[in-house]
Amino acid sequence: MEQNDTIISLRHVTKRFKDGFVAVEDFNLDIKRGEFVTLLGPSGCGKTTTLRMIAGFDIPSEGEILLNGQDISKLPPYKRPVNTVFQHYALFPNLDVYENVAFGLKMKKVPVTVKDRHGNEKIKMKHLSAKEIDEKVARALEIVDMEELEDRDISSLSGGQQQRVAIARAIVNEPQVLLLDEPLSALDHKKRLDMQLELKEMHEKLGITFLYVTHDQEEALSMSNTIVVMKDGAIMQVGTPENIYNEPVNAYVADFIGESNIYDATVSGKKEVRFLGAKWECVDDFPINEKVDVVIRPEDVVLDEKGKGNVNGKIVSSVFKGEDYCYVVKVGKSELEVRDHVARAIGTEVSARVLPENIQVMHKELVENEFRDCEIDKDGELLIGDDSLPCDLTVLLKGSVLDEEDHSVIIDPKTGKKYALAGAECQARFDFDAVSFTDDLGEEGIEATVITSVWLGDHYQILARTEEEDDYIAVTPYQYAEGEIVRVKVDPKKIRLRLKKGIDEYELRD
Ligand SMILES: Nc1ncnc2c1ncn2[C@@H]1O[C@H](COP(=O)(O)OP(=O)(O)O)[C@@H](O)[C@H]1O
Ligand SMILES: [Mg+2]
Repeated sequence: MEQNDTIISLRHVTKRFKDGFVAVEDFNLDIKRGEFVTLLGPSGCGKTTTLRMIAGFDIPSEGEILLNGQDISKLPPYKRPVNTVFQHYALFPNLDVYENVAFGLKMKKVPVTVKDRHGNEKIKMKHLSAKEIDEKVARALEIVDMEELEDRDISSLSGGQQQRVAIARAIVNEPQVLLLDEPLSALDHKKRLDMQLELKEMHEKLGITFLYVTHDQEEALSMSNTIVVMKDGAIMQVGTPENIYNEPVNAYVADFIGESNIYDATVSGKKEVRFLGAKWECVDDFPINEKVDVVIRPEDVVLDEKGKGNVNGKIVSSVFKGEDYCYVVKVGKSELEVRDHVARAIGTEVSARVLPENIQVMHKELVENEFRDCEIDKDGELLIGDDSLPCDLTVLLKGSVLDEEDHSVIIDPKTGKKYALAGAECQARFDFDAVSFTDDLGEEGIEATVITSVWLGDHYQILARTEEEDDYIAVTPYQYAEGEIVRVKVDPKKIRLRLKKGIDEYELRD
């Protein structure tokens, strides 16, 4: 049964585009009446596609969309009690503010009860009267705080004011749900913060449901009742801002929400994990030797004199943030972000400790091989720990080719631009089937020890670990004994690379 306080339900909604690309996959979500819900995720994760299906501009390939318990998946946009404010709001430049907001209302017909010649009541569709339109426009402009400017030309308005007109134009139709697709992205930072507060106020004044889309976690945290974190067309986590910030379900969510330190760690004992070259007490009990993700918020790190804490490091950067300082502490090869109210100079040797309950330990989702901190070396190979793997750098830029002389340089033949990638920090992902093992130690490859070997019905899933504790997972028909030494190879064509900075950072200028 549909619960009365649910306004929109998405049930197993999938969108597959004509080219076969699946932008949204098996999406399930209930939105409560009057809520401010935000879809949050990086560009390309399917946020706009989801909104467009709710608005009626796209039809789901599978699944259904219910509004007040009724399937609306096949209703055209104008028949849905839903209005959208787009990222690129298209106002009519030749009409003034009032006319822009009134435009839709002038076309609109509403049912009214009239009496015919014989005195029988009947329903007739009628246009709104000038007075009705006036009243509605006035109220919409009041809500967006633009009532004084109704005679102004659109071109004379600032970006923020234009955005308000776009919102007024959507709410003047009195929708039950307002969809907002990154509506503040064209504004500068300061204006965006102001508009965030105002949108929240508008939401309260109107009392309707807002479904908001953004890739900006700060925006999501400050405005929403509920946040839906998305990745690759799927929901990762749904929760309140506090819930998502404090209890991220996996490293992806933790990474996306707020600044965090995320480390690959190994369970080293009962309620104890090892990372940053040290052992740390925690409160979660995981099987010994399991690889886990550990998340630590910068504000939970306690700095002290060198030698007093759990690990030693050196402050390499410091930014004053008004109330406290944001430090980066280099610990071995890794970095630890810290927020602290004590002023400390760059170069200071410090130690760090963290309360056990502030060390969040999470299962790694073993769906692919993933290395978060890699580098491109001077030969254009992928450096994982101390091991290098041949890879294909041209996947980093569509249509690019490798420089024949310097294999760490790629060239875009269209623009002639060159990008020097030696030393570039990156992430690498590859599927299990990209990895192969051999027990012939005369062959090339990375040396690793088999840690687990699991029979999955028709193949083994084998995890091998290098001396530096990097794990490689392969699927193979062959059995390997635990403890056996193997050589690991990865198909260069199957390595998916992502640079931590934009490719433009590496452009060669001479
Ligand atoms: N009409 C389309 N045909 C094929 N792929 C599309 C189409 N529209 C969007 N996509 C792809 O679907 C993915 C999700 O897009 P979108 O919903 O716009 O993401 P977001 O709004 O989260 O940035 C992207 O990879 C995009 O390239
Ligand atoms: Mg989008």
